[in-house]
Amino acid sequence: MPSIYVIHENDAWVEPLRAAFEELDLPYAEWFVADGTLDFGSVPPEGVFYNRMSASSHTRGHRYAAELTGGILAWLEAHGRRVINNGLALSLEISKMAQYAELSRRGIRVPHTIAAVGREALLAAAHRMPGRFITKHNRAGKGLGVRLFDSVEALQRYVDGGAFEDSVDGVTLLQQYIEAPAPYITRVEFVGGKFLYAVRVDTSQGFELCPADVCQVGDAFCPAGASAAAPQFRILNGFSHPLIERYQRFLAANGIGIAGIEFIADGEGEIYTYDVNTNTNYNAAAEAAAGVYGMRAIASYLERERRKLEQSERVAETA
Ligand SMILES: Nc1ncnc2c1ncn2[C@@H]1O[C@H](COP(=O)(O)OP(=O)(O)O)[C@@H](O)[C@H]1O
Ligand SMILES: [Mg+2]
Repeated sequence: MPSIYVIHENDAWVEPLRAAFEELDLPYAEWFVADGTLDFGSVPPEGVFYNRMSASSHTRGHRYAAELTGGILAWLEAHGRRVINNGLALSLEISKMAQYAELSRRGIRVPHTIAAVGREALLAAAHRMPGRFITKHNRAGKGLGVRLFDSVEALQRYVDGGAFEDSVDGVTLLQQYIEAPAPYITRVEFVGGKFLYAVRVDTSQGFELCPADVCQVGDAFCPAGASAAAPQFRILNGFSHPLIERYQRFLAANGIGIAGIEFIADGEGEIYTYDVNTNTNYNAAAEAAAGVYGMRAIASYLERERRKLEQSERVAETA
């Protein structure tokens, strides 16, 4: 009988998914990938494999987890296994350059971006940015390397100072800063390639916007008096937009079944898409307030896929 396998490298982020499987009484197995081996002479078990490898895995001491996962996914796919968020998806997860190329190809506007390797190249690129710009790591997640600059000189000071940190893959992106009239971004969640919900995220506290509970900063970080403020994550009621169709086509074309895609709208209402998270997390408080639950949607979707496999195995046996 085919099973469900969850490939990941961060226990804390899988906790809500475990709870969802338990609630729905669905069996599944975890495949924790950090260090390890993969024998290419072996044959993978039958099943549905959900890849949750994260772009920020190196920040948890798992420097080569994404590389090993790339091999595992290639092996699974070579054996014809059903993989949700496959090797193509992983290549986008760990490279914003790849994301922007693919998004643009699907007619989705991305901020003007220049990739640079080496400090000289970075500074040269900054001269070509007409307005305010941000830096970010090509392989990131968690807002790694995201900083706002007003001028080339400011970037020069930063690069010359001790605080500059290179992306783990050596590629820094310089990107047009999109100024939102109000400090928020929108993250659109998809499960099974279909729109689930859109969540508005307050950006007034900075660039690290992981929705997972374990990433939430404690009260100690809240400025006094901020407790009465709107919650940082709020699911939008009845969000609909022509972009959803485009996002769905983009996901289908890139082997992505489950993802959260982030966009910012500027003062003119122009929408810029800037981040694809194939390893997406959901905010528990926002979900409880709205009564929608991403991890349950994922668990049900994986089970539906598993049953399809089971069905086709039966058909094959009786044929
Ligand atoms: N071009 C941009 N203009 C303005 N803010 C941005 C831009 N790109 C990113 N940000 C802000 O920085 C945060 C982190 O950037 P993002 O590209 O999502 O990186 P990560 O993959 O690390 O989450 C975003 O959620 C957003 O608030
Ligand atoms: Mg992001």
